[in-house]
Amino acid sequence: MNQAKASAPAKVILFGEHFVVYGGPAILAAINKRISVDARILSHEEDRIIISSDIGVVGEYWHNGDFNPLEGGSKAKAILDPLYEAIIQVLPTRNKKKTGIEVSISSRVPLGIGLGSSAASCVATVAAVNSLFQKNTSRHQVCELAIESERQIHKRTSGADCYVSTFGGLIHYCSKSKDFKNIKANESLSLVVASTGIKHYTSDLVSGVRRFKDRNETLFESLAKQASEICLQAWTAIESGKGDKIGELMNENQIILQQIGVSHHKAQKIIDLCNKAGAIGAKITGAGGGGAVIALAASKMESAKIASQVKAAGYQSFEVEIDYKGLCI
Ligand code: PMV
Repeated sequence: MNQAKASAPAKVILFGEHFVVYGGPAILAAINKRISVDARILSHEEDRIIISSDIGVVGEYWHNGDFNPLEGGSKAKAILDPLYEAIIQVLPTRNKKKTGIEVSISSRVPLGIGLGSSAASCVATVAAVNSLFQKNTSRHQVCELAIESERQIHKRTSGADCYVSTFGGLIHYCSKSKDFKNIKANESLSLVVASTGIKHYTSDLVSGVRRFKDRNETLFESLAKQASEICLQAWTAIESGKGDKIGELMNENQIILQQIGVSHHKAQKIIDLCNKAGAIGAKITGAGGGGAVIALAASKMESAKIASQVKAAGYQSFEVEIDYKGLCI
Protein backbone atom coordinates (compact mmCIF):
# COMPACT_ATOMS: atom_id res chain seq x y z
CA MET A 1 0.00 0.00 0.00
CA ASN A 2 1.39 3.45 -0.88
CA GLN A 3 -0.85 5.44 1.44
CA ALA A 4 -2.36 4.77 4.86
CA LYS A 5 -4.26 6.65 7.56
CA ALA A 6 -4.72 6.23 11.29
CA SER A 7 -6.10 8.27 14.17
CA ALA A 8 -5.84 7.97 17.95
CA PRO A 9 -7.49 9.77 20.86
CA ALA A 10 -6.08 12.02 23.56
CA LYS A 11 -6.60 11.10 27.21
CA VAL A 12 -7.13 12.32 30.75
CA ILE A 13 -5.71 10.71 33.86
CA LEU A 14 -8.43 10.51 36.51
CA PHE A 15 -6.25 8.92 39.20
CA GLY A 16 -2.65 7.84 39.81
CA GLU A 17 -0.40 10.01 37.61
CA HIS A 18 3.29 10.06 38.61
CA PHE A 19 2.88 7.07 40.98
CA VAL A 20 2.19 4.96 37.88
CA VAL A 21 5.83 5.60 36.86
CA TYR A 22 6.86 3.63 39.99
CA GLY A 23 4.59 0.67 39.33
CA GLY A 24 1.42 2.02 40.98
CA PRO A 25 -2.01 1.82 39.35
CA ALA A 26 -3.72 4.59 37.37
CA ILE A 27 -7.19 5.18 35.95
CA LEU A 28 -7.29 6.85 32.55
CA ALA A 29 -9.92 7.71 29.97
CA ALA A 30 -9.50 8.25 26.23
CA ILE A 31 -11.34 11.44 25.22
CA ASN A 32 -13.08 12.64 22.07
CA LYS A 33 -10.19 14.73 20.75
CA ARG A 34 -8.11 12.99 18.08
CA ILE A 35 -4.85 13.14 16.23
CA SER A 36 -4.95 11.93 12.61
CA VAL A 37 -1.94 10.80 10.62
CA ASP A 38 -1.58 10.32 6.86
CA ALA A 39 1.45 8.35 5.73
CA ARG A 40 2.71 7.70 2.22
CA ILE A 41 5.71 6.09 0.61
CA LEU A 42 7.86 8.62 -1.25
CA SER A 43 9.98 5.97 -2.93
CA HIS A 44 11.67 2.75 -1.98
CA GLU A 45 15.12 4.25 -2.68
CA GLU A 46 14.66 7.73 -1.24
CA ASP A 47 16.77 8.28 1.83
CA ARG A 48 14.59 10.66 3.85
CA ILE A 49 11.53 11.02 6.00
CA ILE A 50 9.41 14.18 5.79
CA ILE A 51 7.12 15.01 8.71
CA SER A 52 4.64 17.88 8.79
CA SER A 53 2.22 18.95 11.47
CA ASP A 54 -0.72 21.32 11.11
CA ILE A 55 0.63 23.44 13.96
CA GLY A 56 3.03 24.89 11.38
CA VAL A 57 6.12 22.71 11.62
CA VAL A 58 7.71 20.68 8.82
CA GLY A 59 11.05 18.93 8.79
CA GLU A 60 13.02 16.29 6.94
CA TYR A 61 15.17 13.60 8.52
CA TRP A 62 17.82 11.68 6.61
CA HIS A 63 18.31 8.03 7.43
CA ASN A 64 21.60 8.83 9.17
CA GLY A 65 19.49 10.90 11.66
CA ASP A 66 20.43 14.38 10.29
CA PHE A 67 17.56 16.87 10.55
CA ASN A 68 16.63 19.85 8.40
CA PRO A 69 13.77 22.15 9.51
CA LEU A 70 11.63 23.22 6.53
CA GLU A 71 9.07 25.25 8.51
CA GLY A 72 8.74 26.27 12.16
CA GLY A 73 12.43 27.13 12.79
CA SER A 74 14.24 26.00 15.91
CA LYS A 75 11.17 24.56 17.66
CA ALA A 76 10.55 22.09 14.80
CA LYS A 77 13.01 19.41 15.95
CA ALA A 78 11.66 19.08 19.50
CA ILE A 79 8.09 18.75 18.17
CA LEU A 80 8.92 16.32 15.37
CA ASP A 81 11.51 14.08 17.11
CA PRO A 82 8.92 11.84 18.85
CA LEU A 83 7.22 11.24 15.50
CA TYR A 84 10.52 10.43 13.80
CA GLU A 85 11.21 7.94 16.62
CA ALA A 86 7.78 6.40 15.99
CA ILE A 87 8.52 6.00 12.27
CA ILE A 88 11.94 4.45 12.71
CA GLN A 89 10.56 2.01 15.29
CA VAL A 90 8.41 0.60 12.49
CA LEU A 91 10.79 0.62 9.53
CA PRO A 92 13.35 -1.92 10.76
CA THR A 93 10.55 -4.26 11.90
CA ARG A 94 9.22 -4.21 8.33
CA ASN A 95 12.67 -4.55 6.75
CA LYS A 96 12.25 -1.16 5.07
CA LYS A 97 15.02 0.77 6.73
CA LYS A 98 15.75 2.96 3.70
CA THR A 99 12.25 3.66 2.38
CA GLY A 100 11.39 7.38 1.94
CA ILE A 101 8.24 8.24 3.88
CA GLU A 102 6.08 11.33 4.21
CA VAL A 103 3.88 11.70 7.27
CA SER A 104 1.33 14.51 7.90
CA ILE A 105 -0.25 15.03 11.28
CA SER A 106 -3.38 16.96 12.05
CA SER A 107 -4.35 17.44 15.65
CA ARG A 108 -7.37 18.57 17.67
CA VAL A 109 -5.42 18.07 20.90
CA PRO A 110 -3.84 21.03 22.72
CA LEU A 111 -0.08 20.42 23.00
CA GLY A 112 1.89 20.00 26.24
CA ILE A 113 -0.88 20.33 28.82
CA GLY A 114 -1.25 16.70 29.89
CA LEU A 115 -3.83 15.46 27.40
CA GLY A 116 -1.48 12.89 25.88
CA SER A 117 -0.90 14.57 22.51
CA SER A 118 2.55 13.00 22.26
CA ALA A 119 1.28 9.45 22.96
CA ALA A 120 -1.69 9.83 20.59
CA SER A 121 0.56 11.06 17.79
CA CYS A 122 3.06 8.23 18.36
CA VAL A 123 0.27 5.62 18.36
CA ALA A 124 -1.35 7.01 15.18
CA THR A 125 2.04 7.42 13.44
CA VAL A 126 3.21 3.87 14.24
CA ALA A 127 -0.17 2.50 13.04
CA ALA A 128 -0.26 4.53 9.80
CA VAL A 129 3.36 3.78 8.85
CA ASN A 130 3.06 0.09 9.75
CA SER A 131 -0.11 -0.15 7.62
CA LEU A 132 1.97 0.89 4.59
CA PHE A 133 3.73 -2.48 4.84
CA GLN A 134 1.36 -4.81 6.66
CA LYS A 135 -2.36 -5.45 6.12
CA ASN A 136 -3.59 -6.39 9.58
CA THR A 137 -1.77 -4.34 12.14
CA SER A 138 -2.15 -5.63 15.69
CA ARG A 139 -3.09 -3.05 18.34
CA HIS A 140 -0.76 -4.67 20.86
CA GLN A 141 2.17 -4.37 18.47
CA VAL A 142 1.33 -0.71 17.72
CA CYS A 143 1.10 0.06 21.43
CA GLU A 144 4.46 -1.55 22.23
CA LEU A 145 6.24 0.29 19.39
CA ALA A 146 4.59 3.60 20.37
CA ILE A 147 5.75 3.16 23.98
CA GLU A 148 9.25 2.39 22.73
CA SER A 149 9.27 5.58 20.63
CA GLU A 150 8.00 7.64 23.61
CA ARG A 151 10.77 6.07 25.68
CA GLN A 152 13.40 7.56 23.33
CA ILE A 153 12.17 11.00 24.47
CA HIS A 154 10.87 10.34 28.04
CA LYS A 155 13.06 7.56 29.42
CA ARG A 156 10.83 6.79 32.39
CA THR A 157 7.44 6.77 30.65
CA SER A 158 4.94 4.42 32.33
CA GLY A 159 3.30 3.59 28.98
CA ALA A 160 -0.15 4.43 30.39
CA ASP A 161 -0.91 7.14 27.80
CA CYS A 162 -0.11 4.86 24.85
CA TYR A 163 -2.28 2.06 26.25
CA VAL A 164 -5.37 4.22 26.69
CA SER A 165 -4.87 5.94 23.34
CA THR A 166 -4.52 2.57 21.56
CA PHE A 167 -7.34 0.67 23.26
CA GLY A 168 -9.69 3.57 24.15
CA GLY A 169 -12.33 3.65 26.88
CA LEU A 170 -11.85 3.89 30.60
CA ILE A 171 -9.01 1.73 31.88
CA HIS A 172 -7.28 0.66 35.07
CA TYR A 173 -3.60 0.39 34.20
CA CYS A 174 -0.73 -1.10 36.12
CA SER A 175 2.74 -0.42 34.73
CA LYS A 176 4.39 -3.07 36.89
CA SER A 177 2.40 -5.90 35.32
CA LYS A 178 1.96 -4.00 31.98
CA ASP A 179 -1.65 -4.94 32.39
CA PHE A 180 -4.86 -3.00 31.86
CA LYS A 181 -8.51 -3.75 32.56
CA ASN A 182 -11.49 -2.03 30.99
CA ILE A 183 -13.68 -0.30 33.52
CA LYS A 184 -17.42 -0.37 32.86
CA ALA A 185 -18.79 2.89 34.20
CA ASN A 186 -22.26 2.43 35.69
CA GLU A 187 -23.14 6.07 34.95
CA SER A 188 -21.59 8.16 32.18
CA LEU A 189 -19.03 10.60 33.59
CA SER A 190 -19.64 14.31 32.91
CA LEU A 191 -16.12 15.68 32.58
CA VAL A 192 -14.67 19.14 31.99
CA VAL A 193 -11.08 19.92 31.00
CA ALA A 194 -9.62 23.37 31.70
CA SER A 195 -6.18 24.56 30.71
CA THR A 196 -3.86 26.79 32.76
CA GLY A 197 -2.33 27.81 29.41
CA ILE A 198 1.06 26.81 30.83
CA LYS A 199 2.84 24.14 28.80
CA HIS A 200 4.80 21.57 30.71
CA TYR A 201 7.63 19.17 29.95
CA THR A 202 6.62 15.76 31.27
CA SER A 203 10.21 14.54 31.63
CA ASP A 204 11.17 17.59 33.77
CA LEU A 205 8.20 17.02 36.08
CA VAL A 206 8.89 13.27 36.30
CA SER A 207 12.54 14.08 37.21
CA GLY A 208 11.32 16.56 39.85
CA VAL A 209 9.17 13.85 41.43
CA ARG A 210 12.14 11.45 41.39
CA ARG A 211 14.20 14.04 43.30
CA PHE A 212 11.33 14.45 45.77
CA LYS A 213 11.18 10.64 46.19
CA ASP A 214 14.96 10.38 46.73
CA ARG A 215 14.85 13.07 49.44
CA ASN A 216 11.66 11.80 51.14
CA GLU A 217 11.66 8.00 50.74
CA THR A 218 9.30 7.20 53.64
CA LEU A 219 6.84 10.00 52.86
CA PHE A 220 6.80 9.06 49.17
CA GLU A 221 6.13 5.43 50.00
CA SER A 222 3.20 6.41 52.19
CA LEU A 223 1.78 8.78 49.52
CA ALA A 224 2.17 6.07 46.86
CA LYS A 225 0.23 3.67 49.10
CA GLN A 226 -2.55 6.26 49.55
CA ALA A 227 -2.66 6.96 45.79
CA SER A 228 -2.92 3.25 45.09
CA GLU A 229 -5.75 2.84 47.63
CA ILE A 230 -7.57 5.82 46.04
CA CYS A 231 -7.33 4.13 42.63
CA LEU A 232 -8.79 0.90 43.96
CA GLN A 233 -11.69 2.71 45.64
CA ALA A 234 -12.25 4.84 42.51
CA TRP A 235 -12.50 1.71 40.34
CA THR A 236 -15.31 0.38 42.56
CA ALA A 237 -17.01 3.82 42.74
CA ILE A 238 -16.97 4.18 38.93
CA GLU A 239 -18.35 0.67 38.40
CA SER A 240 -21.12 1.27 40.91
CA GLY A 241 -21.96 4.77 39.60
CA LYS A 242 -21.17 6.64 42.83
CA GLY A 243 -20.36 10.09 41.45
CA ASP A 244 -19.95 11.80 44.82
CA LYS A 245 -17.42 9.20 45.93
CA ILE A 246 -15.45 9.56 42.66
CA GLY A 247 -15.34 13.34 43.15
CA GLU A 248 -14.22 13.00 46.76
CA LEU A 249 -11.41 10.65 45.68
CA MET A 250 -10.31 13.09 42.95
CA ASN A 251 -9.98 15.82 45.61
CA GLU A 252 -7.93 13.47 47.82
CA ASN A 253 -5.70 12.59 44.86
CA GLN A 254 -5.13 16.31 44.22
CA ILE A 255 -3.87 16.81 47.80
CA ILE A 256 -1.30 14.05 47.22
CA LEU A 257 -0.21 15.65 43.93
CA GLN A 258 0.25 18.96 45.76
CA GLN A 259 2.43 17.19 48.32
CA ILE A 260 4.79 15.81 45.67
CA GLY A 261 5.08 19.29 44.18
CA VAL A 262 3.43 18.94 40.77
CA SER A 263 0.43 21.20 41.25
CA HIS A 264 0.59 24.88 40.28
CA HIS A 265 -1.05 28.02 41.63
CA LYS A 266 -2.94 28.52 38.34
CA ALA A 267 -4.17 24.93 38.39
CA GLN A 268 -5.31 25.45 41.98
CA LYS A 269 -7.14 28.63 40.91
CA ILE A 270 -8.98 26.68 38.20
CA ILE A 271 -9.79 23.87 40.67
CA ASP A 272 -11.31 26.48 43.01
CA LEU A 273 -13.30 27.96 40.11
CA CYS A 274 -14.60 24.48 39.17
CA ASN A 275 -15.61 23.76 42.76
CA LYS A 276 -17.35 27.12 43.03
CA ALA A 277 -19.23 26.35 39.81
CA GLY A 278 -20.49 23.07 41.33
CA ALA A 279 -17.87 20.40 40.48
CA ILE A 280 -18.01 17.30 42.66
CA GLY A 281 -14.28 16.77 42.29
CA ALA A 282 -11.33 18.40 40.50
CA LYS A 283 -7.61 17.80 40.16
CA ILE A 284 -4.73 18.30 37.78
CA THR A 285 -4.54 15.68 35.04
CA GLY A 286 -1.21 14.40 33.71
CA ALA A 287 2.21 15.62 34.72
CA GLY A 288 1.05 18.97 36.22
CA GLY A 289 3.33 22.01 36.67
CA GLY A 290 0.65 24.04 34.90
CA GLY A 291 -1.01 21.89 32.26
CA ALA A 292 -4.67 21.01 32.60
CA VAL A 293 -7.30 20.35 35.23
CA ILE A 294 -10.02 17.71 35.05
CA ALA A 295 -13.31 18.27 36.87
CA LEU A 296 -16.23 15.90 37.42
CA ALA A 297 -19.78 17.22 37.37
CA ALA A 298 -23.04 15.65 38.55
CA SER A 299 -24.68 15.92 35.10
CA LYS A 300 -24.18 17.20 31.56
CA MET A 301 -26.01 20.39 32.50
CA GLU A 302 -23.61 20.94 35.41
CA SER A 303 -20.51 20.26 33.29
CA ALA A 304 -21.70 22.82 30.71
CA LYS A 305 -22.09 25.36 33.53
CA ILE A 306 -18.61 24.64 34.91
CA ALA A 307 -16.99 24.91 31.46
CA SER A 308 -18.70 28.22 30.77
CA GLN A 309 -17.81 29.75 34.17
CA VAL A 310 -14.16 28.71 33.86
CA LYS A 311 -14.11 30.13 30.33
CA ALA A 312 -15.63 33.40 31.59
CA ALA A 313 -12.70 33.63 34.04
CA GLY A 314 -10.33 33.60 31.05
CA TYR A 315 -9.23 29.96 30.78
CA GLN A 316 -9.67 27.58 27.85
CA SER A 317 -12.24 25.04 29.02
CA PHE A 318 -14.36 22.36 27.34
CA GLU A 319 -16.49 19.32 28.12
CA VAL A 320 -15.12 15.94 27.07
CA GLU A 321 -16.71 12.57 26.34
CA ILE A 322 -15.03 9.21 26.76
CA ASP A 323 -13.81 7.77 23.45
CA TYR A 324 -14.45 4.02 23.26
CA LYS A 325 -12.93 3.53 19.79
CA GLY A 326 -9.25 4.02 20.59
CA LEU A 327 -6.91 3.59 17.62
CA CYS A 328 -8.68 3.66 14.23
CA ILE A 329 -6.84 2.44 11.13
O1 PMV B 1 2.68 13.80 29.72
P1 PMV B 1 1.44 13.88 30.51
O2 PMV B 1 1.21 15.20 31.11
O3 PMV B 1 0.27 13.36 29.73
O4 PMV B 1 1.58 12.95 31.82
C1 PMV B 1 2.03 11.66 31.82
C2 PMV B 1 1.70 10.99 33.12
C3 PMV B 1 2.86 10.75 34.08
O5 PMV B 1 2.36 9.82 35.06
C4 PMV B 1 3.29 12.01 34.78
C5 PMV B 1 4.07 10.14 33.39
C6 PMV B 1 3.88 8.71 32.90
O6 PMV B 1 4.74 8.26 32.14
O7 PMV B 1 2.90 8.03 33.27
